[in-house]
This record gives sequence, C-alpha cells and structure tokens, in this order.
Amino acid sequence: MSDRPRVFVTRNLPGRAIEVLREQAEVEVWPGEMPPSPEEFRDRAASCDAILTLLTDKIDEALLDAAPSLLIVSNMATGFDNVDVAAAARRNVLVTRTPGVLSETTADFAFALILAAARRVVEGDCYAHDGSWRTWGPETLLGHDVYGATLGIVGMGGIGMEVAKRARGFGMRILYTSRTRKLDVERDFGAEFRSLEDLLRESDFVTLHAPLTDETRQMINERTLRLMKPTAVLINTGRGPLIDQAALYVALKEGVIAGAALDVTDPEPMPKFDPLLTLPNVIVTPHIASASVATRSRMGMLAAENLLAALRGEVPEHAVNPEIADSWRERLKVRFG
Ligand code: DGY
Repeated sequence: MSDRPRVFVTRNLPGRAIEVLREQAEVEVWPGEMPPSPEEFRDRAASCDAILTLLTDKIDEALLDAAPSLLIVSNMATGFDNVDVAAAARRNVLVTRTPGVLSETTADFAFALILAAARRVVEGDCYAHDGSWRTWGPETLLGHDVYGATLGIVGMGGIGMEVAKRARGFGMRILYTSRTRKLDVERDFGAEFRSLEDLLRESDFVTLHAPLTDETRQMINERTLRLMKPTAVLINTGRGPLIDQAALYVALKEGVIAGAALDVTDPEPMPKFDPLLTLPNVIVTPHIASASVATRSRMGMLAAENLLAALRGEVPEHAVNPEIADSWRERLKVRFG
C-alpha cells in the first residue's frame, strides 16, 4: 500500500480542489449527488488520514470511532455545527473550516432575500407567469421600501459586516447585536449596538448571521417573534435551527410579523409538505447563499489547503480546535515520521 496520505472527500467539488489534493495524497471522492449514508461514510473513512466534509456530513462519535487513524477533518463551510468538535478533540483530531471566502457572496444573497421579500419579487414573478397580469394597477403587489428602513443584524462576524456595508449603500439605519461590540462597524457603517430584544422591537428587517450553538438555538421563538413589528420581515441565511419554525408559522399566519425569507431551514431539505410552504408571505431557497461559481471554488480550495497544511504539520489559521495542536502533532509524527 502507498504511504501517501489517504483522503476521503464526501462529494465532488467545483474548481481545482480535488486536483490539488491528488498531487499530494491518495484521494477517494464520493461520486453521488446525495451524501454518503452514515454506514457508507464510516466505511470510507475507516482507513483515512483526513476527510474533506460538507455541512451535510455528520462527524460524530460513531464516525470518529470507525476511523481510528483519522487526523484531520477539513469542513468546507464557515459553520461547523455538523462536527462534534469536543469528540474530535478528545481523539486529537484537528478540525478546520472555511470562513471569510464566502462572506461577500452570502451577504449579497441576504440582500437579495431582503429585497425580494420587501418588494414581492417572487409573487410578482408568479403573477406574470400564471397569466394574472392584465394591466398596470396602482395597487398591484405593493411592497415596502428597503431604503431608509431599519435593518437589524443578528451576529456581526464577517458576513454580518458585509451585510452592514451593503445596508449603508441603501441608506438604511443599522442596528446589530453580537457577543461583543464591534467598534469598527459602528464607526464605518454607523451601526448601533442593541440587545437582541431591543433590536427585534426596532427593526423593519431582521437578518440572522449568528453561528448555531446551544445559546443561539431557537433564539427566534414564540416570545422573541412577539417582540417584532407586525410589518417586520425575518431573513435567515445562517442556520435553520436558529428559528423555532413551528412558532414562525403561527407568527406569519396570525400577522405577528409580515414575512420571512429563509435560505436555511430545520430540517434541510424542508419537507415538501411543510406548512411554511403554504404561506404566500414566505420565500424559501435551498441553502444557496454561498452558491456562486467563484465562491464555491474558493471554499473547496481553502478546504483542500487547510487539509494539506495540516498534513504538513501546520495548524491552519482556520482550525477550530487549535488547543490540541501538541498532542495532535505527536499522532501525526507517529503516522508520517
Ligand atoms: C457555511 O459555510 O456555513 C454556509 O452555510 C455554506 O453556504
């Protein structure tokens, strides 16, 4: 058997990422459009040194136990809630992610959803397609202005910051909430810090960019939805479980808030018969906020670079658990000398 590093990639990737991996490793790529099942994943990962994974892959105790030689999990996403990082750390497995390269593309899409919901773009398209358009009507499909409105940004990381930059161009008043105050964003974009509750009370549009953690899970729920304006629109390009979707359905149905635009749902994919899909004031897209040709290629390449850097013994800047570096390097040395 070759003693080049063995790598499993859980889906084919756009761009040159796989080619670059193949220059330095034995690489197996899962060929399906659907992710490998947990059994198939465990089977493929069993003899691997590294895996390049997507947000659809669960890296849990069972997977880690099935892959005793695993040294690196390179996750091609900025979020890493699909990885049990504590379990990986206990086994001295390094976990990396791909932040930064998707911030602008994702912020563009969050804005696309803000505009689409405010100006009823999807309803207008259906109206034209289904033959309802018979004349120009002074009261046809009236929406709400985005310019001059108040935008509440929940989570001021790289993506939240790019959303603020765009909102500034639309002449919006910008509120934000975050674990820490971001004085540069306050200075550069005139953003004002608020508690989550105050942000929800004051915003016309609320856009979610917080990571999914135990603290943020279902942060938008029956109680917090009731704080929002009846004219407000909720946008989510972060993670589906940030919202209690059953509570959102009731809020939309009863007019507690005016609309929602969701690029991420809980679960994904959203089942065809989910009640939210019956509502005209909801836009749902299939987790595509980062889906531009250039950005997905950049994400793939960064995931490949993180993986190869780790195989060389370097702890990539985007490691999620760098605290295990010393014991992880010991394992790497035993394997590759
Ligand atoms: C991420 O990187 O976490 C995004 O959700 C992918 O679009």
